Amino acid sequence: MTGRASIDGYLLGEPYPSNFHREFSPAWIDAVLRCRGLVPPRAPRAVFRLLDLGCGDGFGLIVLAAAYPEAEFVGVDALEAHIQSAADTAARLGLANIRFRCERFADIAPEASAFDYVTGQGVIAWISPDNRRHVFRIAGEALKPGGIACFGYNAMPGWKDVIPLQRLIRELAGGEGPAWQRFRSALAQCRSIAEAGAASLHPEWPEWLEKQVETLPQAYFPHEYLNDNWSPLWSADVRDGMAAYGCAYFGNARRDRLREDFCLTTAQRARIAALAEAPRETAADLFVNASFRIDMFGRDVPPAPEPLDARLDSWWAATADEAEADYTLQTPAGTLRFDNAAAHAILHGLARGPNTLRSIHATGAAGTAADVLNASDALFAGGHIIPAEPAAGTPRAAPVNAEIAARIGAGAHLGVQVGPHGALALPSATVTAAHDGDDQARAVLARLGIL
Ligand SMILES: C[S@@+](CC[C@H](N)C(=O)[O-])C[C@H]1O[C@@H](n2cnc3c(N)ncnc32)[C@H](O)[C@@H]1O
Repeated sequence: MTGRASIDGYLLGEPYPSNFHREFSPAWIDAVLRCRGLVPPRAPRAVFRLLDLGCGDGFGLIVLAAAYPEAEFVGVDALEAHIQSAADTAARLGLANIRFRCERFADIAPEASAFDYVTGQGVIAWISPDNRRHVFRIAGEALKPGGIACFGYNAMPGWKDVIPLQRLIRELAGGEGPAWQRFRSALAQCRSIAEAGAASLHPEWPEWLEKQVETLPQAYFPHEYLNDNWSPLWSADVRDGMAAYGCAYFGNARRDRLREDFCLTTAQRARIAALAEAPRETAADLFVNASFRIDMFGRDVPPAPEPLDARLDSWWAATADEAEADYTLQTPAGTLRFDNAAAHAILHGLARGPNTLRSIHATGAAGTAADVLNASDALFAGGHIIPAEPAAGTPRAAPVNAEIAARIGAGAHLGVQVGPHGALALPSATVTAAHDGDDQARAVLARLGIL
């Protein structure tokens, strides 16, 4: 990324790092919808189409294409280097169910009502208001009735203290030269300005960013801090943006917002209970100081006729071992404790591989169906179980898994493997160890049904 070439203020140059964002997999979106009593866009393992807007180097979409051979994926991005890399990787890995297009949002006229899912991670809060409207337009037009659009974005109020820092970095980094160097030098200047006593720039924020520099990929920072239109959004504005294209809000797909009673205190919930949905969500964001949201929108998304059955029939995989799991979760509302028979029975039941909650309920060890669903919500919120799919043949899983391991080896921040039960997120260190033959790591993969 040298110089200031941009698309409407979005810098061109160094590609964005490869990513896999688990919340944008169909299994995850469907699981959250089921938890909310809604019908997902497709029956498990039915044919579907997914459009990803601002797909970056497309690697996350490639992982999904390997996990869902029955589906068709389309990735769009304006940066030629992204699309070239995405198309080359997909061809090299032998994936025939994915296409990439190099296009700007303003120029996209999507096939109407053609997609079951439209996703956009890390896009709408990084682009101009006009381009944001184009993303909403494309999603509104492209979605089938009953389909879901899912956008991940930097949210207010969580970024309120970082906005002055981003602003100053962007202005200080405005010259010529490699973006990374401009960013580093601007951050150093911000630090000394903050240390001189700036009322709206506390030294803790440049320090916080310096710490991130030690752990996150270099290429992330120019995209986050040097773009002209970077602007954390209020959820009500995103909601209004999608409403203009006929789509209603269907909830936040983050696991830490799965249930209000998990993340808000009784007093907080009582105070906002009578509010309309939008201000209530804003108040909830204020209660938890939300800094990132993953919002789902759609048109004609029906309530599930048998919500309890739909949830019992859903598939899950365990990321934790029953004996070693921590059955507590710290949330903004306090400590959630779920060291109960149902939670143990679920982890026990998933120890030999992914399965349905119904199979666990049928053992009789987990209590009532309501006990099973409550425990599965807590285990999901706590990261001990993740949504999975019924088994299917995934012929391109092996080359894609090897590619993930190779990219991790080369420094990528990726944590996922593909198996018969879907694209399942796990720590990158576990992926590396499993590929190196470590028995414990291989046992983790076996529990996810991957080996
Ligand atoms: C922060 S990156 C996120 C990439 C990817 N979704 C991910 O999460 O890894 C934002 C992406 O939006 C793309 N983008 C920015 N402006 C665009 C435009 N006007 N039209 C199409 N793509 C655009 C960029 O090239 C970049 O790949």
